[in-house]
Amino acid sequence: MAPLLAPSLLAADFGNLQFEIERLAGSAADWLHFDVMDGRFVPNISFGIPVLQAVHRHAKQPIDVHLMIEEPQHYLSAFRDAGAANITVHYEACTHLHRVIQQIKQLGCRAGVALNPHTPVHLLEDIAADLDLVCIMSVNPGFGGQAFIPNTLRKVAALKDLLVDCGSEALIEIDGGVTLDNAGALVEAGADVLVAGSFVFSSPDPVATLARMREQLAT
Ligand code: DX5
Ligand code: ZN
Repeated sequence: MAPLLAPSLLAADFGNLQFEIERLAGSAADWLHFDVMDGRFVPNISFGIPVLQAVHRHAKQPIDVHLMIEEPQHYLSAFRDAGAANITVHYEACTHLHRVIQQIKQLGCRAGVALNPHTPVHLLEDIAADLDLVCIMSVNPGFGGQAFIPNTLRKVAALKDLLVDCGSEALIEIDGGVTLDNAGALVEAGADVLVAGSFVFSSPDPVATLARMREQLAT
């Protein structure tokens, strides 16, 4: 199956967000990836709820919210109300992950869990069946433009096996350092959703880059 493409707005021009979102509307992007950072869970601060509201006013695609924040349980309904279709929390940020996942689902959003590069996929064994999405971080979260960690490929394959064993239909999303150099291998290993920030927005024509990804990854 051809993967879903989710350009990360973290790499977009924040001074022209409306333009950026409107040009993505007619592109090969399936979701818009929205990175929220709190300066605590990750050593950086990005944007939050009011910016999501503004993005949502112009967006044509579902918004895939990636919460790189501590205690995400306090903000789930605010992100849903602001326009999140998917809400992904970090495994490492949730003591009561099962409860958080149920809360996200009760809000009517797709529920996702993200794993930092050092977090093994087997820790999802007892929650996998409840998940709609697993995001494997292929960089340490907090910044765009970092190099892809090659061990991710092994993790994707292991996660794929685990999801099959658990009877889970969760999508596998890869986030960080995705380019056309590694995208094919990721899809082959089992990735369903590719997030790409710099590769898309640092290119001269992001819409053309997404079209090229779509074309090269078509099966
Ligand atoms: C990193 C973010 C990513 C980031 C990806 O913490 O979660 O979504 O925007 O950017 P690139 O594709 O530039 O690595
Ligand atoms: Zn992200």
